[in-house]
Amino acid sequence: MVVRFDEELLKDPVCAYARLRAEGPVHRAEAPDGSAVWLVTGYDDVRAGLADPRLSLDKAHSATGYRGLALPPALDRNLLNLDAPEHTRLRRILGRAFTPRRVAALRPVVEDIAGSLADAVTGEDLLAEFCVPLPIRVICELLGVPPADVTEFRSWTDAVLVPADPGRARSAMGSLYAFLTSLAAAKRASPGEDLLSVVADSLSADEMLSAAFLLLLAGYENVVHVLGNGLAELLSRGLAPTSSTVDEMVRHASPLQLAIRRFTREDVEIGGTTIPAGETVMLAVAAAHRDPSVFPDADVFDPSRAENPHVGFGFGPHFCLGAPLARLELEVGLGALFSRYPAMALAVPYAELEWRSAFRSRSLRALPVRLSGRFPQSGTVGGGG
Ligand code: HEM
Repeated sequence: MVVRFDEELLKDPVCAYARLRAEGPVHRAEAPDGSAVWLVTGYDDVRAGLADPRLSLDKAHSATGYRGLALPPALDRNLLNLDAPEHTRLRRILGRAFTPRRVAALRPVVEDIAGSLADAVTGEDLLAEFCVPLPIRVICELLGVPPADVTEFRSWTDAVLVPADPGRARSAMGSLYAFLTSLAAAKRASPGEDLLSVVADSLSADEMLSAAFLLLLAGYENVVHVLGNGLAELLSRGLAPTSSTVDEMVRHASPLQLAIRRFTREDVEIGGTTIPAGETVMLAVAAAHRDPSVFPDADVFDPSRAENPHVGFGFGPHFCLGAPLARLELEVGLGALFSRYPAMALAVPYAELEWRSAFRSRSLRALPVRLSGRFPQSGTVGGGG
């Protein structure tokens, strides 16, 4: 049977993936653009696939020509489209911006941003009031985007990341491209302490541009929705965050359904199926995270689980470069909210929250909360299953 990412699957991907996983580890599927792909659903195969050098991230290895998101060439040569050795070289350079020292130095900045956002929330929609602006302001800080430009920057990134209207997305991409080009040129001419300045000497103009673009794409939406989806889980269970909450949010509540598509460089056997060279492989991280052979009671959101070997930040050479920063943002963000509003609760039953489910991501449309006082919780169960 060919799996389709149709409404039925997107409405309840957890159930659909559980069914598929029970049938076998590897499935034929049709991506929304109509192309044939292979879908991998078991934890061991997903984890191994993430680090397998025979699975390339370079579109040149697609036999049929990859038809996904088309980026201007200057933005295309980024870490998530490259393999070793080019990937290794670029990653080493960008890694300079994410050393433990540099990330630790960002803590007071993130605390300031989270604190001022948390002070101003009304609870009408915590997603729009808090989860969205937190990472965008952190990334602007990281990239050295002047505060006056943040609003415009955000409207372009929103149009690119959530393309409700293809015309608007194209024009926003053009504006973003022009903005990043002049930002990168300014950093070269007059370096500061920000990420782009730190790497300016070692990267070509295009490499710098594609790095800025990738950090924006990779560092924004996932943080927004791990925080939003994760808060919904916490609040629906009346839990306060602990030191292991972030990992459980990344395992159970992450919006990310699939890793970046990969292409087989040669015939590759996965879970007993031989996938011919040149084909597209989708590693279903969200399915792996509910694999009962690795996570007991996998569908339960349980921050106190003893072991949590999730692959929510990837695994292997493409492991999330921004994971330490993401953890910092999530931890500080939760702390800022719960220290101010310890009795915060969902304003509607969990079952009434609205989701936006797409091929790659599953996220809340809004997160209405009461900042104090609990919603009568009878019959409200979280989204465990
Ligand atoms: C909770 C939030 C985040 C999640 C769940 C997440 C998840 C991931 C995953 C799964 C990958 C690997 C993709 C693959 O191999 O297919 C990845 C790669 C990456 N992430 Fe994140 N990420 C998050 C936040 C961030 C942030 C805040 C940044 C930077 C500001 C960032 C920058 C990157 C970069 C640059 C890569 C590419 C690494 C490479 O190819 O070598 N991410 N992320």
